[in-house]
Amino acid sequence: MGNNTRPDSMERITTKELADAFIAEQVAEIQAQVGGRKVLLALSGGVDSSVVAALLIKAIGKQLVCVHVNHGLLRKGEPEQVVEVFRDQMDANLIYVDAVDRFLDKLADVAEPEKKRKIIGAEFIRVFEEEARKQEGIEFLAQGTIYPDIIESDGVKAHHNVGGLPEDLKFELVEPLKFLYKDEVRVVGKALGLPDGMVYRQPFPGPGLGVRCLGAITRERLEIVRESDAILREEFAKNGLEGKVWQYFTAVPDFRSVGVADGARTFAYPVILRAVNTVDAMTATVENVPFELLEHITERITHEVPGVNRVLYDLTPKPCGTIEWE
Ligand code: XMP
Repeated sequence: MGNNTRPDSMERITTKELADAFIAEQVAEIQAQVGGRKVLLALSGGVDSSVVAALLIKAIGKQLVCVHVNHGLLRKGEPEQVVEVFRDQMDANLIYVDAVDRFLDKLADVAEPEKKRKIIGAEFIRVFEEEARKQEGIEFLAQGTIYPDIIESDGVKAHHNVGGLPEDLKFELVEPLKFLYKDEVRVVGKALGLPDGMVYRQPFPGPGLGVRCLGAITRERLEIVRESDAILREEFAKNGLEGKVWQYFTAVPDFRSVGVADGARTFAYPVILRAVNTVDAMTATVENVPFELLEHITERITHEVPGVNRVLYDLTPKPCGTIEWE
C-alpha cells in the first residue's frame, strides 16, 4: 500500500497534456509492479473503477481480469454500457456476472435500510469472491481508491457496508488513482478515451437502486424506479441540467394511492423526484427545476411507466432530509 500522502510536488491534473503524462507514468509503474502477472478488478461502471480499468488495459491488456457484477440494482442501460465499452470497444478480459435473481431473492421481504445495505454489500463480496476463486494465478487486486477516500474518514464511501475479501484471497493492491481528486480522475478518464456519459456521470450509491426502491424491494417497484429514473435523466440531459445538477434520481415508496385514469379508479405507486446540489454531500440544496419541466416529466412518467399514478418533487434540503430517502 505504501505512502498515502499526495506528494506536494504533484501538479493538479487539469489538461489533456497533464493527463497524458500521468497516464504514461502510471502505465510504466503498473508494468513494473505487475510484470507478467494477473490483476483482478471489480468493475462497477462508476467513474473510478472505469478509469482504473482503462488505465490497466492500456498497461497490461488481458492480464487484467474485470468482473462486472450485475446485481439488478443498476440504472437502465448501465450493465450494457459496461459490456459495450470494455469488452466490445476496448477488448478487455471482462467477466459479466448476472446475479440479479441472487440479490433480489436475498433482499425479498427486507425493509430496513441498513439491513438492505449490508445484504447488498455482503452478497457483492460473495459473488466477487466466487469469481476470484475461479480465476487461476491472480496476484493483484486493482481498486478505484481516490484521494478523498483516503483523507476523509467519514466521506461518501464511508457508507459502504461491504466487508473485505477472505484472508486466502488477500492480493497485493494496485491503486493508480489514490492521489487523484475526482475532477482529475475525470480528466484522466477522458484522456483514456472513455465516453462522456461514463466520465461525467453523477454520483451513484454502491447499493444502487436498492435504496431508492423504498422498503422491501419488489421487482415491480424496482422497474418503476429504473424506468422513471431513465426518464428523469433523459429530460435533464435534453434540458441542459445534466452536468449542472449534482445528483438527481427517483425513489418509489412501498405504498399506493388512489388515482383516476380513463374514467376508472386506479390504485398505484407514487414516484418521488429528487434533484440536489452540494459540494461535499454533507449539506445540500434543492435544484430549482423549471415548473414546466417538472410537469412534463410528470406527464411522461405517469403515461410511460406502468403502475404509477402520481409524481412528487421533494423540496427538502439537507438537513433536514438526507439526499437519499433510505
Ligand atoms: P445521504 O443520503 O446520506 O447521501 O445524504 C449523501 C451521498 O452519499 C450517497 N450514499 C451512498 N453512497 N453507498 C454509497 O456508496 C451508500 O450506501 C450510500 N448512501 C448514500 C448518496 O447517493 C449521496 O451522494
